Amino acid sequence: MRYQNFMENNTTTDNAHTQMCPHFRRCGGCSWLDIAYEEQLEKKREILERHLAPFTGCEREELIPALDQFHYRNKMEFTFGGSAEEPLIGQHYKGSFHRIENLTRCLLFDERIGEVLETVREYAKSAALEPYNPKTHAGFLRHLKARCSKTSGEMMLILVTAGDFAGADEFAKIFEKFPFIKSVYYGINSRLSDIADCEKLFLLGGKEYLTENIDGTSFIISPESFFQPNTMMSAMMYGKARDMMGLTGEEYVLDLYSGSGGMGLYIAKKSKYLYSIELQKESVDIMKKNLAANGIENAEPICGDVKTALALIRRRSFDYAILDPPRSGMSKKAVRRVALKDINKILFFSCKIETAVQNLVEFGKYGYKVTRAIPFDMFPNTPFMETVFLLSR
Ligand SMILES: C[S@@+](CC[C@H](N)C(=O)[O-])C[C@H]1O[C@@H](n2cnc3c(N)ncnc32)[C@H](O)[C@@H]1O
Repeated sequence: MRYQNFMENNTTTDNAHTQMCPHFRRCGGCSWLDIAYEEQLEKKREILERHLAPFTGCEREELIPALDQFHYRNKMEFTFGGSAEEPLIGQHYKGSFHRIENLTRCLLFDERIGEVLETVREYAKSAALEPYNPKTHAGFLRHLKARCSKTSGEMMLILVTAGDFAGADEFAKIFEKFPFIKSVYYGINSRLSDIADCEKLFLLGGKEYLTENIDGTSFIISPESFFQPNTMMSAMMYGKARDMMGLTGEEYVLDLYSGSGGMGLYIAKKSKYLYSIELQKESVDIMKKNLAANGIENAEPICGDVKTALALIRRRSFDYAILDPPRSGMSKKAVRRVALKDINKILFFSCKIETAVQNLVEFGKYGYKVTRAIPFDMFPNTPFMETVFLLSR
């Protein structure tokens, strides 16, 4: 549902929000659902102003509102809970590690997920599969990860279990009634930590990958490769960031924390050469496939930690570096290693303003000044946003 429609129906009473989502307040997903959208934007503007106040000389652009206020995410991880008799599948309760809100719908992910979750619950119950308990480490069903292509409407599911799954083929068949589910995997995570990443992955049926096609660039999505969670807003952000760079085709660009090449693919097409570094091997492999699929030859993706892998790049001077670290931001050592290269301008992407500010201050010690900030409301109904900063020295 687009913002316009939502506003027509929106009242600020709690009841109205509970009607929109019966899970509101318990589910850790949309914590700002009870705040009218204009007010959400205002609160985010205030957060930005507060954090950017020390950066005098930084031109701040208006926060760009979301294209879609609901169902904007292309990726979601659901967790199993309850018992073999009454399996639950959904999101953790706000602030709780153990309690699961049993979701019947989700305003963040694809609308069709409610039916899919119900089908998985029915199957788990009929097969008497025990949900995994992160306290006792007993049980079998851990997570259901879902990804979708916003441009094709196709969906991929990855069931994460604690061990070998003898009934995997039967499990895959339960999705035959959903023509939009084009790819089903199961993966094993036998480790104690409750992350959804798998040690082994098996394709049970359908396609190996999903594909997004945005502005003439195709992006392959595999079960665990990194891809920005809000496809449409990311496309807008990549386009604006590229315009800001004013590329002529002669630039050497570093793309650090590159994921599977989201921003990098946009840049490589318009610059002389792109060197990228990414820690997760699956994302690097997908970036290589993305480059080939888009006929891009002027790029070299490197798998490694930014702190150490930068030394593998012999070239010393660059026109631009694109930095897009995870929410935790960059370590001081990583900032230092980047600053030791001769980089004219930096585009710093951040989805967490607090860690971004720490990194920007750190770059200031090496002579970089923040000259421009463009914020995007990439995560409506939550306190988070994405900001692109331009730094120069
Ligand atoms: C926000 S994502 C980057 C997204 C990417 N630039 C894009 O446009 O889609 C952050 C990425 O940093 C990677 N990462 C985390 N720590 C890293 C490190 N120390 N060195 C290199 N990459 C790292 C993660 O695996 C993740 O893919």
